[in-house]
This record gives sequence, C-alpha cells and structure tokens, in this order.
Amino acid sequence: MNAEDSRSDPSLKGRKIIIAIDGPAGAGKSTIARRLARHFGLLNLETGAMYRAFALKALRAKVPLDSSAPLEALAHGTKIRLEPGGDENRVLLDGEDVTRLIRTPAVTDAASRVSVFPAIRAWMVRLQQQVGAAGGVVMEGRDIGTVVFPHAQVKIFLDAAPEVRGQRRFEQLGQTGKVPEVQPQEVIRELHARDERDRNRADSPLKPAPDAVLLDSTNMSLEQAVAAAEAIVENRIQTAG
Ligand code: DC
Repeated sequence: MNAEDSRSDPSLKGRKIIIAIDGPAGAGKSTIARRLARHFGLLNLETGAMYRAFALKALRAKVPLDSSAPLEALAHGTKIRLEPGGDENRVLLDGEDVTRLIRTPAVTDAASRVSVFPAIRAWMVRLQQQVGAAGGVVMEGRDIGTVVFPHAQVKIFLDAAPEVRGQRRFEQLGQTGKVPEVQPQEVIRELHARDERDRNRADSPLKPAPDAVLLDSTNMSLEQAVAAAEAIVENRIQTAG
C-alpha cells in the first residue's frame, strides 16, 4: 500500500458530481480529465470527440464547412454516441466506430470550423447534457462550465502558454507516428489558428466560467498538473461538504 492508498478513499463513485474541464488545445485537458476520472472513480466524457465525429461526416459528405444550413441538414438524422470506458471514449457515428478516424489534422481543423455554428452547438449541448445528466462524470471541452453544465460542482480552466501547447501537441503527433513530416512551427501555427477561432466565435466562445479555478500548466510536468487538478477537486468537495 502506498501513501496515496492509505489516505481516505478518494472515490466519488455514486456521487452525482460533475467536474467540468475546459481550456484550449494542448493544455493537457484530455490526460488530466482521464486521470481525474480514474482517481475519483468517475466516467470521463470528451465532448470534442462529438464535434470531431460530426466534422468527419461533413468532410466525407463534402458539405461546405463555412455555412450553417447545409451542416444543419446533415446533422438532421445523424446519430453520435459517446461510450465512456477504459482510458478512451468510444465514438460511434451513425453506428460506425470512428474512434481512430477522428484524430487526423483534417478532422481536427474541421471540428473547430463546424463548432462555430449555433444550431450545431445547440444540438451538441443537448446530447452532452443527456450523457452527463446522471452525474458521476468528468466532462472535458470548451464550454462545459459556461454552457453545458453551468452548475457543475467543480470547474477547472486549464491553460498553458501557446508555445508550450504547440510543442506538446507536436510531440504527441510524433509519438503516434501520425504526421511524422510535420514541423513544430506548423503545429504551433495550426494550434494558434484553432485557438483564435475557438476563443472568438460569437456563440459560447472558449473562456473561463466566473467560478472556474484557473490552472496554468506552462511550467508544470504532467504529474504536477494532475496533482494540482486533484487538489482542486478535493478542495472543492471539502468546502462544498
Ligand atoms: O477538444 P478537441 O480538440 O477534441 O475539440 C475539437 C474542436 O471541437 C475544438 O477545436 C472546438 C470544438 N469543441 C467545442 O467547440 N466545444 C466543446 N465542448 C468541445 C470541442
């Protein structure tokens, strides 16, 4: 038994708690959300995967990504399911498992484009509220603490300097062997463009909820950021009683 095990059981299983993790790309949201979910015995739900699945459908159907009406028509009758489990969410698009297909740079860019449209966001937000309704979840995205679950018990806004986020994203891509030829500057540029779009869109722009705890991971290792996020959750739970 290590020191952590001998402390009181951290599990929040059975509690209807919602932990919202928002922030820009490359800040470490996915890893931290996954680790928090594991530590506290909660389900991890990645809302970006839902926008990605729809973006994949739009790319396949060659629907223009710059106007709402054709995307709305495409959304009509589209079924997106997020199945939590293990370390990763399984993503089903009209019954097809697209978990692996939604991580390409083309889908990444398209997801940020389709997510600016209010009608698409309203549909996604409804779906996300349904999957998180029972609580017991860590939900990760851009607008969870502001729009999807404004009454979430814990809200963390995770950020890091753009260069650091770009470098992390570049290293991730290298590890997966997905885009070996890409240059770090290119990744940083792409990340910056996506940030601008996510932060400046008119509907639900990426921004911290007024009651979110800000966590800047610029000078932290992953382990330090995870420990800081766990401490924020524990603190909030204790003060909430
Ligand atoms: O977290 P991610 O990189 O998988 O998200 C892909 C895109 O989806 C992101 O650029 C913006 C959009 N998104 C959003 O608008 N709202 C969310 N809650 C999650 C993602």
